[in-house]
Amino acid sequence: MSDELVAVRTHGRACVLELRRERKLNALSTALEEALGHALQRPEVKASACVVVTGGARAFSAGADVEELRGQDPASILAYYRETGDVYERVAGLPQPTIAAISGYCLGGGLELALACDFRVADAGATFGLPEVAIGIVPSSGGTHRLVRMLGTARAKELVLLRDRVDAEEARRLGLVTETAPEGEALDRSLALAERLGELPPLAVAVAKEAIDAMAESSRAAGLGLERLAYGMLAQTEDAREAAAAFSEKRPPRFRGR
Ligand code: COA
Repeated sequence: MSDELVAVRTHGRACVLELRRERKLNALSTALEEALGHALQRPEVKASACVVVTGGARAFSAGADVEELRGQDPASILAYYRETGDVYERVAGLPQPTIAAISGYCLGGGLELALACDFRVADAGATFGLPEVAIGIVPSSGGTHRLVRMLGTARAKELVLLRDRVDAEEARRLGLVTETAPEGEALDRSLALAERLGELPPLAVAVAKEAIDAMAESSRAAGLGLERLAYGMLAQTEDAREAAAAFSEKRPPRFRGR
C-alpha cells in the first residue's frame, strides 16, 4: 500500500521516482518517506545511471506533514530518525547522480529532499522556502547542513530566517537551483540531463560524485590524497583506456558502461 505513494519507472538510462501524494501536496508523511525508502531498494534504481526525483504539477513537496508533528516526544523523535527520517541521507548516499525535477511548491522537508539530490531543475513557476522556524522548529533533514555547505552561513541564515518564499529564478541566482526550465518542462529537462550523465563512463561518474561529497569533510591534504587515489584507480579502467584510444583515432568513445 505505502509503495503506491512513490511510482518508480525507467526512462532511458534514468530511473524516475515520482512522489504521489498530490492531494496533500506531497507532504512528507512517514508513510511517504517509507515508500521512498522502499523505492530506493528497487532493481530499477540500482540498474539506473541517474535517479530523478519528482513530484506533481502543484508541488514537488510542501514539506513535512504538519499533521504528524503534533504530540511528539524525545523517544518518538529519536525513533523517527532511525526509521523513515534517514531517507534523505539515503537519497544523498546513492552512488549515481541524482536530480530533483521541481514543479510548484518546494518547501521545508521538500526542499531538504531536493537539496539531498546532486542537481535541482525547476519549472519557472516553482516556489522555494523553509517555513520551519515560523512554526517553531528548524530544518532537520540535513537541510541546514547542506545549505551552509552549498551557499555559506549568511545565505543559509537568510533563507532560514528572513525569506518567506524564493521564486525559481532567484533560487537559480542564489545557487540553490542548477537550472530553470519553462513552466511544465522541469522533468523533461531533468531527463535530458540524466541522459547526458548516462553517456559518461559510470565508474568515473560514481567516483567523482563520492570524492566531491567527501571533499567538504576533508582537510586539504586528505582531499588531495583522495583525488590522486581516485585518479590512480580510474586511469586504469577500460573506460579511460577506451577514451584515450578514441581520442587518438578521432572517434567517439564506446564505454562498456554498467
Ligand atoms: N503537511 C500536511 N498537509 C499539507 C501540507 C503539509 N506540509 N501542505 C499542504 N497540506 C495539505 C493541506 O492541509 C490540504 O489538505 P486538505 O485538502 O485535506 O485540507 C492540501 O494539502 C492542499 O493544501 P492547501 O493548503 O489547501 O493548498 P494551497 O494551495 O491553499 O496552499 C501551501 C499551499 C503550500 C501554501 C499550504 O498548503 C501550506 O502552507 N502548507 C504548509 C507548508 C509548510 O509549512 N511546510 C513545512 C512544514 S515543516
